[in-house]
Amino acid sequence: MNPPLGTASRDRLRIAIQKSGRLAEPARSLLAACGLSWRESRDKLFCYGESLPVDLLLVRDDDIPGLIADGVCDLGVVGRNELDEQAGERERNGLAPAYRALRGLGFGQCRLMLAVPEDWDWQGPQQLQGLRIATSYPAILRQWLEGQGIDAQVVELSGSVEIAPRLGTADLICDLVSSGATLAANHLKPVETLLDSEAVLAGPAGGFDDARAGLAQMLLRRVDGVLQMKDRKLLMFSAERESVPALARLLHDAGPLVELPGANGALSLQAMCDGAVSWQRLEELERAGARGLMVLAVERSLA
Ligand code: PRP
Ligand code: ZN
Repeated sequence: MNPPLGTASRDRLRIAIQKSGRLAEPARSLLAACGLSWRESRDKLFCYGESLPVDLLLVRDDDIPGLIADGVCDLGVVGRNELDEQAGERERNGLAPAYRALRGLGFGQCRLMLAVPEDWDWQGPQQLQGLRIATSYPAILRQWLEGQGIDAQVVELSGSVEIAPRLGTADLICDLVSSGATLAANHLKPVETLLDSEAVLAGPAGGFDDARAGLAQMLLRRVDGVLQMKDRKLLMFSAERESVPALARLLHDAGPLVELPGANGALSLQAMCDGAVSWQRLEELERAGARGLMVLAVERSLA
């Protein structure tokens, strides 16, 4: 039996993620890397947490901010674009902030952009005066237009925004751009960025006052541990002591060179590197006296 949804106090944490779409798979991978595992339910909408009392709710991304606001979910993985839009909407309706982004997650990068027909000669925002702009992000767009002092008409569409100029229902659009393929296919070109977006871990504006507080804190710490280590590599090798100064110079951009006692007078050394360690770099280190070079992926850490 699944527990009832929307109860006020809980001893289990409930995280909403996108059921399918761009953020679905990376969101699951991140949570799995944080040590969470689930029993799949038959309806595939609710996954009961097995390793920890943390359950998953699989939903439409657009529903996630509302689920957090209503207390149905405690945390959610959602695009900053969606969170900002719905926060802007609440603000316009005089409602108090209900959620906030707790962490940027480094995936699902995209931009909310204005795009105009390819043959337009773009001279800047002032050109938008009196035009019709189709978008699914009316709150963010209206706020941007106000900031620019432009009076344009916002045409709200829930989907297929990119065909509005061809249909004649708008002059230009404001939509998400990731690869740019959708714009190109519709003979539109991006001209202004309103928002740089990525997936975020969102939570309620206030905190939790029950067992969920500890669970959320633990999860955030694990998320930080996974994100910090994502592109890190541990470089290990051995060397004679006289080679160490030259090797340290070659590794000046890495973390400190750590010496461990090695066999037969040689030193065992290690350094933490940000990003990939190229073959060329390994060969340089070898020429400078490094032996038995190894590059290891770092999975997690507790800072
Ligand atoms: C966005 C956007 C475009 C497309 C752009 O939709 O509305 O249709 O992605 O991507 P591209 O630049 O790589 O072509 P998304 O898939 O995020 O769906 P949603 O906005 O309906 O959730
Ligand atoms: Zn969506």
